[in-house]
Amino acid sequence: MRRRPRSLLPWVFVAIVGAGVAQALFAPISSSAQEASSSQLAEGRRLFEQSCASCHGPLGEGTTNGPTLANVGPANVDFMLSTGRMPLAQPGLQPQRQTPIFTAEQIRAIVSFVDTFGSGGTEMPTIDPQAGSLDLGQQTYEANCAACHGSAGSGDSIGGNQIAPALDQATALQIAQAIRVGPGPMPRFGTTAIDQHELDSVVRFLLYLREAPNHGGLGLTRIGPVAEGFVGVVVGLGLLLLVIRYTGTRE
Ligand code: HEC
Ligand code: HEC
Repeated sequence: MRRRPRSLLPWVFVAIVGAGVAQALFAPISSSAQEASSSQLAEGRRLFEQSCASCHGPLGEGTTNGPTLANVGPANVDFMLSTGRMPLAQPGLQPQRQTPIFTAEQIRAIVSFVDTFGSGGTEMPTIDPQAGSLDLGQQTYEANCAACHGSAGSGDSIGGNQIAPALDQATALQIAQAIRVGPGPMPRFGTTAIDQHELDSVVRFLLYLREAPNHGGLGLTRIGPVAEGFVGVVVGLGLLLLVIRYTGTRE
């Protein structure tokens, strides 16, 4: 009994030493994070000069082969790179979704470098599809998007050799970026046209469309609990019968 308080001492030491170690570990992490941002800019510049400057100019001022990137904003650059639309193979082509040639880290580096060309433009949107409403999403989609992308989101030709692509591949973030940025011939929708709740709702609706063929499956999984309940009843009744039989034969 008397030893109990003393046995806490080693734990106190462990806690103190642990806190010290954690602090020692944290210090270099936060300073290396700061270094990363200047090396990130340098890496962004290197990649930009290599893959973008020929069309957009070394400082994003634009050339006859590509528009200025002065005030496009992070959402636009991230969308173009994460969907593999940029770098364009050749001026005059419609940018198309492809496997991105850059890693996520390289994309962040290029986005931060392009951001030094000028502030403004479209910030990264925030999205919470679960906060959206499917009904509202469908209505918003029908009213603003279906004319070009088709009511099932399967894409369509919109004339002038331009295609409104199928919407079964874009991530939730890319859908929100496309809405806010308006890539190429697509109009951009600001917060007055599509507010945050409508944005969440359209994203939720488009993600839902992809699961639509599985609706039968959803129905089937619902049978799960029913079957379990059924099994429960059968087993329960069986046990009850056994008990009755056991008590019955005892007499
Ligand atoms: C072969 C030329 C070419 C190359 C290389 C190229 N782009 Fe582009 N870029 C274009 C053209 C042309 C457009 C306009 C496309 C359109 O809207 O149809 C464009 C559009 C963009 C846009 C959208 C601009 C806006 O006003 O909405 C961004 C952002 C962009 N490019 C970033 C990049 C980045 C970053 C790179 C390098 C990784 C790159 N591009 C490489 C030609 C090029
Ligand atoms: C005027 C026709 C038009 C309308 C209206 C339109 N879009 Fe688009 N959308 C396009 C075109 C064209 C592109 C391809 C842009 C490019 O050249 O890079 C596109 C691209 C996209 C992409 C990128 C797809 C991918 O996989 O990379 C998404 C997502 C998208 N649109 C969603 C929407 C949503 C959601 C709406 C409604 C709020 C909408 N669009 C309204 C024409 C349209």
